[in-house]
Amino acid sequence: MGLDYGSDYCVDAGSAQCPCFLAETGGCLSCSLLRGEAFCDCRWTGECIYQRYLLRPLLWAREDRRRVARVSGYEKINERAFLLEIALPQEVAESLKTPGSYLFLRPTALPDDFFAPFSILEVGSEGYVRLAIEILGPKTRLLKYPGREVAVKGPYRNGLMGLRAVKALVGGRALIIAKGIAQAPALHLATYLSKRGNQITALIWPGTLGEIFVASRLLQQGAVLRVMEKKADHGLSEIAAEIGTGTYDLVASSGTDQQHQAVAGILARSGCEAALVTTNNAVMTCGEGICGSCQVTTAAGQQVKACKHQLDARELWGAGERTWRADVFQLPEVR
Ligand SMILES: Cc1cc2nc3c(=O)[nH]c(=O)nc-3n(C[C@H](O)[C@H](O)[C@H](O)COP(=O)(O)OP(=O)(O)OC[C@H]3O[C@@H](n4cnc5c(N)ncnc54)[C@H](O)[C@@H]3O)c2cc1C
Ligand code: FES
Repeated sequence: MGLDYGSDYCVDAGSAQCPCFLAETGGCLSCSLLRGEAFCDCRWTGECIYQRYLLRPLLWAREDRRRVARVSGYEKINERAFLLEIALPQEVAESLKTPGSYLFLRPTALPDDFFAPFSILEVGSEGYVRLAIEILGPKTRLLKYPGREVAVKGPYRNGLMGLRAVKALVGGRALIIAKGIAQAPALHLATYLSKRGNQITALIWPGTLGEIFVASRLLQQGAVLRVMEKKADHGLSEIAAEIGTGTYDLVASSGTDQQHQAVAGILARSGCEAALVTTNNAVMTCGEGICGSCQVTTAAGQQVKACKHQLDARELWGAGERTWRADVFQLPEVR
């Protein structure tokens, strides 16, 4: 259950991690009383967050989201990427089944500066969780040889914008557009949607990773899979043609912010009313709404912390025009 605050609400409201540090520091996104206002003006129908806070005054001493996890599996995708399987307590793994879930990981011997966020690829039985990691810079390079254990911080939930539409879709049709390492959150989303009787069509590009690693799993779920080739227009004409069929209730873009802008632009031009879902690419450092590294600006100019604020992706990207780079992407005509 989530807060009914229109399109912008706290992704952690009502969860095991609520109230969080923001409640302690007068910045709760949901509760006006915890923000220091005189009256309660929330529309939250779950257990009162203010009361939870009063009953748990020793928040700072609470057990937080950190643990050490056993590495139970490791598989090379190619020279640039690998799959990592870790063993977590069953209840933590269960809570990671929601699309958009992610964990911070770092080698156990290194300080917290090395924590980096990674999307959940799959949640298996008995607490086994799989992630796909692309090696880019210092944090991921050092995770390449994790040893027997990794330090884990999580669960975190705001890896997708548009979760309300995802949770509402039952027996519908979804188009998933994924490139490179963003196949990981795309597969997790497809798993969730197909369990709810939705028909999935997936357009997948190898991207800079140069590999498609989710094909067999998508096919097992009954998805219609199209493996796409690199093209000068970044595949936008094919995306536009698919959206132009007008048969989708939900369109998910799993990739870069430029891709999200392009898909938002195509949706707006096509007049297609499908819900938009996009992966959250903000730089996440604390994940708790404290450090401010994840701040993004919505199409309407509102600045929000992307680790906590759950947004309607169409409100985040608008019609794709705000940061539109005509020199980079040429939007195709949509018939
Ligand atoms: C919600 C979320 C889910 C993600 N899921 C995956 C995943 O499943 N697999 C995967 O390989 N990568 C994923 N990433 C990206 C991954 O966190 C970065 O690639 C990683 O932090 C890079 O760190 P680095 O030190 O190796 O590289 P750097 O050289 O530091 O950076 C390389 C790129 O990663 C970005 N980056 C660096 N630090 C962060 C950070 N703390 N948060 C977000 N981006 C950062 C940089 O802006 C740059 O574009 C995800 C990011 C987010 C926010
Ligand atoms: S990651 Fe620190 S405030 Fe969002």
